[in-house]
Amino acid sequence: MPFATPDSSKPRIVLGVSGGIAAYKSVELLRLLRDGGYHVAPVLTREATRFVGTVTFSALASEPARTELFGDPSTPIPHTYLGQNADLIVVAPATAHLIARYAIGLGDDLLCATLLATKAPVLLCPAMHTEMWEQPSVQENLATLRRRGVMVIEPDTGPLAGGDVGPGRLADPSSIFERVERIIHGYRGPLSGRHLLISAGGTREPIDPVRVITNRSSGRQGHALAEVASRLGASVTLVTTSELGVALDVVRSIEVVKVETAAQMHDAIVQRISDADALIMAAAVSDFSVRSSPQKIKRHDGVPQLRLEATADILASVSSLRRPDQVIVGFAAETNDVMENARDKLRQKGVDLLIVNDVSAPGVGFAHDTNEVTILGRDGRSESVSLRSKEAVSLEILTRVASLLLQGAL
Ligand code: CTP
Repeated sequence: MPFATPDSSKPRIVLGVSGGIAAYKSVELLRLLRDGGYHVAPVLTREATRFVGTVTFSALASEPARTELFGDPSTPIPHTYLGQNADLIVVAPATAHLIARYAIGLGDDLLCATLLATKAPVLLCPAMHTEMWEQPSVQENLATLRRRGVMVIEPDTGPLAGGDVGPGRLADPSSIFERVERIIHGYRGPLSGRHLLISAGGTREPIDPVRVITNRSSGRQGHALAEVASRLGASVTLVTTSELGVALDVVRSIEVVKVETAAQMHDAIVQRISDADALIMAAAVSDFSVRSSPQKIKRHDGVPQLRLEATADILASVSSLRRPDQVIVGFAAETNDVMENARDKLRQKGVDLLIVNDVSAPGVGFAHDTNEVTILGRDGRSESVSLRSKEAVSLEILTRVASLLLQGAL
């Protein structure tokens, strides 16, 4: 039976099954996918058929289960046919052997050849005994695949075959199904349909081709905001100086624009602001740039006198041009007279929300994984968010952004 017809309007999933005891659970996943409106083409490795039968998969799937690279009556090249037409490939369970073959690029059976012959996203759901899961070889193969953009649902901890207990149990089919839904449809959250422009990291102002003036910002809070906004349904443009990257599960809904200097960040934000529903300036933008030397300043020429010049205040210039339906959020890094300075900054910058950091407090602000902030509103309300992960702080901030957007801004 051909792959695409008669379900061509449905998202197409290749369900790969490799040979582990958890293969029986992929029957449940198959049923969830079919009930969820997906066209599912199962591909079993030969080892998988020692645990489950093709008849079961064929009966429940959108087309007969396949196991062989050669001799397929419907097409002479089943791997390219499956790989090119897939919207997503899910491998559940993915054994240590399958992961290793995929990591080194073998195409020695139909499932591995299909994984090679696709540009579709791939979601691996490993399942194996704890000792195997913890092997450095398995973890290194997974790290290699993750680096190439493959998504991985970590196994659960619980009872395993043979009475053992530990990490290695296939993730629950319903959580695999939820992940599939998010990959294919995106999560319809409170920021669905919104476009957020977010800045992150510390700018770097050149002194000469070698040296820069910069600050301690790592970009973690801004990158966490971008990832959480995307998980809440937003499309995001992240203007960043940071090398951190973004999480693979949201990489497709975040456009990353790399910049270095305050002037480049200014231009990148100003060019994109008209498309944005909200701007969040989490970047630590340098207030000064240097009149830089085109050549390296030599030590033997003596201590140089640096000429500093003021940079443009991005927030202030954007918020003076804002549309009434846009929400503008600034950050304030303070070390003393924190709330007094912050209230002045809120007014001067003309923002709707100001996220105030006392960067002298322990575990707060620059280069930490945690943050503690006060959210100041233009309406005078202030709310403390106690010390927590930068993702959790992001959720608090974005929940307020979502509700301001719902009110049609101010
Ligand atoms: N900001 C900006 N453009 C600048 C400097 C800062 O858009 N040239 C933004 C930051 O991204 C942040 C907010 O303004 O959202 C406040 O930044 P902060 O460094 O706390 O304040 P400054 O305006 O630089 O004032 P000061 O350094 O004197 O506290």
